Formats: sequence, C-alpha cells, structure tokens
Amino acid sequence: MGKIIAVHSYKGGTGKTLFSVNLAAAYARQDKKVCVLDMDFRAPSLHSIYGLDGSEYWLNDYLNGACEINKVLIDYTSQCKCDGTMFIGLANPTTEALRDMSSKDRKWEMRALGRLLSLKHALLNDMELDYLLFDTSPGLQYSSINAIVSADLVLVVSTMDASDIQGTKRMTHELYDLFEKKTGILMNKVPIEFLATPVERESVYKRFENTHTLPVLKVIPCYCDVLRAGGTKIFTRDEPKHPFSKHVEEIATKIERI
Ligand SMILES: Nc1ncnc2c1ncn2[C@@H]1O[C@H](COP(=O)(O)OP(=O)(O)OP(=O)(O)O)[C@@H](O)[C@H]1O
Ligand SMILES: [Mg+2]
Repeated sequence: MGKIIAVHSYKGGTGKTLFSVNLAAAYARQDKKVCVLDMDFRAPSLHSIYGLDGSEYWLNDYLNGACEINKVLIDYTSQCKCDGTMFIGLANPTTEALRDMSSKDRKWEMRALGRLLSLKHALLNDMELDYLLFDTSPGLQYSSINAIVSADLVLVVSTMDASDIQGTKRMTHELYDLFEKKTGILMNKVPIEFLATPVERESVYKRFENTHTLPVLKVIPCYCDVLRAGGTKIFTRDEPKHPFSKHVEEIATKIERI
C-alpha cells in the first residue's frame, strides 16, 4: 500500500513546493508511481513549475464535488524523464478561484475532507500509486489541516528563523500530536557555514531536538543555484548530481523506511 505525504510549514516560503516536486521526481526516477496535488489554494504553484495550463477540471472542482479525480489528474510521465509514472493535480490559479476558495465555510471544508479521505482508496488502491504528495499552504488553513488529517506522514519544512522554529514546535505539538501524525522536520536554507564541523551540525539539530523530541529528518543548506533557478528547475530531474538533489534522494530513502 502506498503512502500519503503532506508537505507543510508554519511560515510561508520555507521550501514546501520545492520539496514536493523534487521528492516526486526522485521517486519517479526510482521507477515509482507518484502523484503531486497542489493543495495550496491560496497561491497555487504547480501549474507554473510544471509549465501546465491545466485541464478542464481542477482540484477545486474535485473538492467541490463537480467531478471525479481522474478528470483532474494530468499524466506527466512523458515529461518527467523517469522510469516511473507521474500524475499532477493542479489548483485553479485564477483570481476568481482564489477568492472563492478563501470564502468556504466549515461545512464545505468538512465535505472537502471527506473527498480528500476518499482519495486514499481511489489513488493508492485503485491506481496503485506508491506516493501521493500534498503541497500545502503554510499555517493553519483549513485545506492544510485537511491534508494533514488525510496523510500518513507530514514533512514540516522550517528555516532557521527563531520565529519559524518556535511556531513549528508549537504547531507540531498542538496539531500533529492531536491527530497522532508521524512527523519529520526538514530544516531548510541553513547557511553552509553552520554545517562546517560535526559540533556545529549538532547544534543545528539541537535547535529542534533539545526541548522537544521532534525528529529532524534532514538539514538542507541554502544553495544559490536553487535560488538562481527561480522555481523553474526540478533538480532531481534536471540535475540529479547536484548536492541539493542528493539531499532530496536521502530524504526519499528515509521516508521509505518510516
Ligand atoms: N535549500 C534552498 N536553497 C536555496 N533556495 C531555496 C532552498 N529551498 C527553497 N528555496 C527557495 O525559496 C523560495 C521559496 O520556496 P518554495 O516556493 O518552495 O516555498 P513554499 O514553502 O512552497 O512557499 P509558500 O509558503 O509561499 O507556498 C524559492 O525561491 C525556492 O527556490
Ligand atoms: Mg508553496
């Protein structure tokens, strides 16, 4: 049976989308069957990263009950330069859709949760996916909470900012513990000089692990190449030998063992 992974964070801009697409490509290169869903209805990104215009139906329509999931998924396999299979589910990026999604009430969100939960059966059982990845909005947006509830594992991406670390700790304890979710922290954009010696590396881990026992799955340096690519490159697909790709591949292996 496949795994559902929600990629989440307390603050915005930590690297959720970057990890979602790179992890998906890393798994697809390993001959796995993967799907990435853009659950960031506040600021959809996947259409831009994958250079897709969208299909007749969006993920918004699936959650609205207007279509089934097979109408939303785009088969990206021929463009993923991989041995596996890849599907993408896009969120509608139009201003009208952003406004519509931000005005949904609790009742709608509960129904949307039901629709999301039923994906487990449709995608993992029927389509036999190995991995279903949710790229979410930061913080406690309803859509993100729904994604967390539906997931088997939550990857929480944090930077070294004190406010990010503090907020991530609070959020993981108050929210993920409540849902009893397996959680792994990715500490991202860490200045390379913080990782120069084993002692310094240890102190980076300790920022998370000393007072709370949150497992830091990986510490990832800040790479100018990643910044320079400006969200147009999928490193594990386009530059598999890049150190950033190596980090993502190690994360992929660790997740397989969880
Ligand atoms: N390790 C890294 N080194 C350098 N740049 C990085 C790294 N990780 C992420 N970035 C850059 O940070 C920016 C934000 O990344 P991304 O869009 O993936 O974050 P996000 O968490 O999805 O943001 P949002 O909360 O707005 O959805 C991007 O320009 C990305 O390339
Ligand atoms: Mg994002």
